[in-house]
Amino acid sequence: MKNIELSPRLKTIADMVRRGVRVADVGTDHAFLPLYLVTKGIATFATASDINEGPIKNAQNNVKAHQCEDVIKLIQCAGLDDVDGTQVDDVIIAGMGGELISEIINNAKWLKNTDKHLLLQPMTRVNELRKYLCDNGFDIVEEKIACEGERLYTIISSNYVGKQIEYDEVFLHVGKVVSNNNEASKRYILNQASVIKKIAEGMEKSDDMKEKSVKYYDLSNQILLMLEGN
Ligand SMILES: C[S@@+](CC[C@H](N)C(=O)[O-])C[C@H]1O[C@@H](n2cnc3c(N)ncnc32)[C@H](O)[C@@H]1O
Repeated sequence: MKNIELSPRLKTIADMVRRGVRVADVGTDHAFLPLYLVTKGIATFATASDINEGPIKNAQNNVKAHQCEDVIKLIQCAGLDDVDGTQVDDVIIAGMGGELISEIINNAKWLKNTDKHLLLQPMTRVNELRKYLCDNGFDIVEEKIACEGERLYTIISSNYVGKQIEYDEVFLHVGKVVSNNNEASKRYILNQASVIKKIAEGMEKSDDMKEKSVKYYDLSNQILLMLEGN
């Protein structure tokens, strides 16, 4: 059977999984990620869940084709609802909106455990996900950027620490990305600053929002300042 080849986004996530752990992949779709992790010996066991029947059927076919039925357990459920937390060390939630990812974490109380490790790849509302994590005692340990052509994907690595994490608006928009000090991170920060500047420009055109636009221009400039010294 052919080796599993991952896209740069999924490969970046796979590289952030701890070695020798049991993993859960939420919203697994085709199950490429768990298949890669168990066949490469990175994970010893994987639970792969998806809310929809179609993806679970695709996943079942792929798991069977790679003869991984004994090391990958497939579950059709919402989020982590039917996943046994005692059987999982690292949890991956990728390819969904930041709000849905926050909701899935919020519904799985067993994640409030310092031994668990979260790898999150939001497609939208990354700032809201960062806020949720900080407000709810999850520290953002690291963030990596995966590039696929023009598209940039943020992958957040997070752990429960049991106390609220302080943050400001700049952190919510760039997170820990700045620590990476590489080209992809610079592109990400420039892009975040440009998105905020466009919002400010839009606000400036409306009489009601003109005053608020100053705050957004300022935020965009503060984000750009993160690049100084890098
Ligand atoms: C865009 S795909 C992402 C697949 C894969 N995780 C990736 O990153 O390539 C989103 C998957 O999440 C599933 N999904 C959506 N909402 C979900 C939920 N609340 N719980 C579990 N799975 C969900 C969908 O059925 C779909 O298979």
